[in-house]
Amino acid sequence: MTEQALSNDAEIARMARRITRPIVLVGLMGAGKSTVGRRLATMLGRDFIDADDAIEEAAQRSVGEMFEEFGEAYFRDGERRVIARLMEENSGVIATGGGAFVDPETRALILEQAIAVWIDCDIDTLVERTSRRDTRPLLKNGDPKAILTKLFNDRSEYYAQAHVRVLSEDGPHADTARAIIEAIDRWM
Ligand code: S3P
Repeated sequence: MTEQALSNDAEIARMARRITRPIVLVGLMGAGKSTVGRRLATMLGRDFIDADDAIEEAAQRSVGEMFEEFGEAYFRDGERRVIARLMEENSGVIATGGGAFVDPETRALILEQAIAVWIDCDIDTLVERTSRRDTRPLLKNGDPKAILTKLFNDRSEYYAQAHVRVLSEDGPHADTARAIIEAIDRWM
């Protein structure tokens, strides 16, 4: 390993030791919360959990099925309870679904118990990334770019309340993960 890589690792380890609360990633669908989150957890030597996966496991249904069978309010209710439980159980990295931080109770809980990180991203990248899967109920009825633009306009004021904001560029996830660690370090 080069001297540069060693000092990078030591620097990350130093910053990681100061982070004691769970890190909760928020932001729109396609921002990279899950992929960056996994990478971030590995860099910090912590657990990673995807809140949508945990909700699906608890409900024994997919997010799409929950929206279809019981409606969005039912999903949001489960989402709030599952995220509260995950923050209690886990001091690692938690990726949340794009609407979680918009819910006032979930947002208050995250702001109180965790370090909230908004992964911000331009609309065209969100459209491109979300087009790779068709599992998102909110993008099924209409033009994805128009829907994502509206969600961006409606939700930015909530995401902006996160403790830290990081821009997700098109480059490697490791760069965004490192930018998150540095931004948290500055914030603390
Ligand atoms: C949603 C985002 C999705 C999922 C659900 C609703 C939203 O998660 O929770 O489809 O309201 O933005 P991702 O942000 O992980 O795609």
